[in-house]
Amino acid sequence: MTDLFDSHDKKIIAKQIQQLVDELNNYNYAYHTLDESLIDDYSYDQMYRKLVALEALYPELILANSPTQKVGGEVITKFKQINHQIPMLSLNNIFSNLTENNENKHNELIQFNARICKELEVDKLEYVASVKYDGVAISLIYKNGVLKHGVTRGNGFTGEDVTHNIRTIKNIPKVLSGQSIPYTLEVRGEVLIFNDAFNKLNQEQIENNLKVYANPRNTAAGSIRQLDSNIAASRPLHFFAYSIANISEDYLFKTYIEQLNFLKNLGFDIGLYNQVCPDYKALIEYFENTLAKRHELPFAIDGVVYKVNQIDYQTRLGFVMRAPRFSVAHKFPAEEAISQIMNIELQVGRTGAVTPVAKINPVSVGGVIVSNATLHNQDEIKRKDIQIGDYVIVRRAGDVIPEIARVILEKRTDNVRKFIMPDKCPICNSHLIRLTGETITRCSGGLFCDAQKKQSITHFASKLGLNIDGMGEKTVEQLVDYNLINNPAY
Ligand code: IVH
Repeated sequence: MTDLFDSHDKKIIAKQIQQLVDELNNYNYAYHTLDESLIDDYSYDQMYRKLVALEALYPELILANSPTQKVGGEVITKFKQINHQIPMLSLNNIFSNLTENNENKHNELIQFNARICKELEVDKLEYVASVKYDGVAISLIYKNGVLKHGVTRGNGFTGEDVTHNIRTIKNIPKVLSGQSIPYTLEVRGEVLIFNDAFNKLNQEQIENNLKVYANPRNTAAGSIRQLDSNIAASRPLHFFAYSIANISEDYLFKTYIEQLNFLKNLGFDIGLYNQVCPDYKALIEYFENTLAKRHELPFAIDGVVYKVNQIDYQTRLGFVMRAPRFSVAHKFPAEEAISQIMNIELQVGRTGAVTPVAKINPVSVGGVIVSNATLHNQDEIKRKDIQIGDYVIVRRAGDVIPEIARVILEKRTDNVRKFIMPDKCPICNSHLIRLTGETITRCSGGLFCDAQKKQSITHFASKLGLNIDGMGEKTVEQLVDYNLINNPAY
């Protein structure tokens, strides 16, 4: 009986593992090969951790194609393949629970530090904190100071030869500078596009009636994987160096920061945000400062990276599976998440402007639970082809109101339906009017419309108006609902 139960149980686990593997592989393929993100990092990581936990309990059920058994991307064949002498590994991720405001908030970081301090038998460790560039990992190989190869990460062991495109990147040294040039050098870093340059690129696309690019990361990735190097040459790509994978034997470094400065002297851009931190508390400070000014940076980052500064400690800690133990990526809360549109409702503003709002399945975005996302106006719904029932990417960047970035068309079923703008106001039943040439639809009810009435009075009483204490949104709502006031005057 027990055996029967066990085998039944195991079948369920096996199925669960299979599903996780399939789904994660799907996301990996989309991300690494098609340069498309179908899931946010946090949800991906949750699924990945679940798989790791199940595989640890049932090692006999580990599938050969499990993403835990490889580094990521698949190598596609349009380029020459190059084996990495040193594998291009990934980093383990940690997250903070930003909705909590106590010492548990940064638990995962505290545990990371405690674990490696214990392993090295030290009380505290010095780290270098850097920003985590949201771009494409590239390895550059130099011989006698001359750039020979530029290779993508591929599956971590074999990458694609994209030297022709790498050569077009202006800030990558083709010949190293400085006094001390190693015979062999392999430098790793990230190729990305600055926000300004990306916006300019998209402006040009619009002017030429061409497709608008989704985000800088995917555009950078797409540019690097073109056969025609003229395309990469026309894109404003930039390279930041973050590590030395391989160097001629006579170069010995004591610390990671020394390595970074060495790279700088050779002509590489190492960025402005590398900071030596004397202990893990300084890492928390770095994390919080960087998160707060995330949107002031000129390029996209998706977290910060910590590395143990001392190289002999790095060597002692070594690697486990597909990641180093001396380094970790501390991810920011995703500003994008996947959810489903359950309904589209109308919100009537103070001036009668009618805004369609998507009622979505509640989801955590940027550290906050979101259940409404603005759809701006009818044209936006049409442009983005948004339908009720669609799975969508919800975006909440900084202080911006949550919005729908795009529809995940791959997940669309037959059960979706188009939104039709009604001709009457849902609040007061007055006609909705949209003037020719305008994008905004308005309710014609004026102060007859309760929504306009409430918001006019609230605005009148607010700090911008008479600044009447205690006369907030909730109070006004009640006063209007009980017919006690009708407009700002009476
Ligand atoms: S160190 C063993 N430093 O993030 C890999 N990586 O999620 C050591 N990345 O594969 C990498 N910014 O492509 C490092 N400042 C930074 C980084 C960084 C972005 C990328 C890199 C890595 C991935 C891991």
